[in-house]
Amino acid sequence: MNILITGTNSGIGNAVAREYLEKGARVYGISRRFNKNLRKYADYIHLSHDLSDHTMLEDKLTRLLEGEAVLDKVILNAGMLTDINDIRDTSLEAIHRVMDVNVWVNKVLLDALFRLVPEIRQVVAISSGASRSGSRGWNVYAISKAALNMLIMLYSREIPDTHFSAIAPGVVDTGMQDYIFTLPDNGRFQVVSRLKEMKRNRRMKDPREAAVQLIEAMGYVLEQESGSYIDIREL
Ligand SMILES: NC(=O)c1ccc[n+]([C@@H]2O[C@H](COP(=O)([O-])OP(=O)(O)OC[C@H]3O[C@@H](n4cnc5c(N)ncnc54)[C@H](OP(=O)(O)O)[C@@H]3O)[C@@H](O)[C@H]2O)c1
Repeated sequence: MNILITGTNSGIGNAVAREYLEKGARVYGISRRFNKNLRKYADYIHLSHDLSDHTMLEDKLTRLLEGEAVLDKVILNAGMLTDINDIRDTSLEAIHRVMDVNVWVNKVLLDALFRLVPEIRQVVAISSGASRSGSRGWNVYAISKAALNMLIMLYSREIPDTHFSAIAPGVVDTGMQDYIFTLPDNGRFQVVSRLKEMKRNRRMKDPREAAVQLIEAMGYVLEQESGSYIDIREL
């Protein structure tokens, strides 16, 4: 099996990469930094790249995937969080930055991959419950994940031979939650209170548990209509 995953340096992407490598898959990973815990896998191939920089991405992918005829899965996992804040207090510059990394780079990446690789069987975007909840404070992060869901749906209409889906993984204890844990809980943003309470009481999944669930969900979703959004917590 050939898998391409973005955001393999840490958190969910790192854990999903390791699960697939343990199962004997070849994994192409993209992130700015390389996590040493992937060094022991001969079938892990890393591309260090800042996905907010669209220039040279296709050239780098061409070299990375030279001669590869099939990608079984493309997992669009890399993403960034914004400040938990009100949208009216967020600059357009910050909004552009998040939309670029969480949404538009996935378009650039998919367009390049579909030009380079003759067969791509499944594309999964890692979405978020924030794409639907609209909770105060999720800010442009929520907008970016809602846009990602729609981007995936549109590609599913355009490319019927590939199965597309957006999957929300639930709450996972990664660097993103570490950041939220540092925020003051002054009652303004319910989401901060809820997530800090979950972390304090160890009610978050660890990345490995999330990876196992995601891999199972990626199989389940193949039976659903291409372009679907699913939240793992509702399965
Ligand atoms: N944790 C949760 O509870 C949760 C819930 C719902 C959805 N998600 C989603 O899950 C995905 C993974 O997040 P995570 O929780 O695992 O957080 P994380 O540990 O911060 O992982 C983010 C990954 O994305 C990579 N990345 C970020 N910006 C990048 C850029 N400009 N270019 C290349 N790579 C970049 C990071 O690697 P480098 O820093 O080395 O580039 C890292 O590997 C995200 O899409 C997130 O929105 C997470």
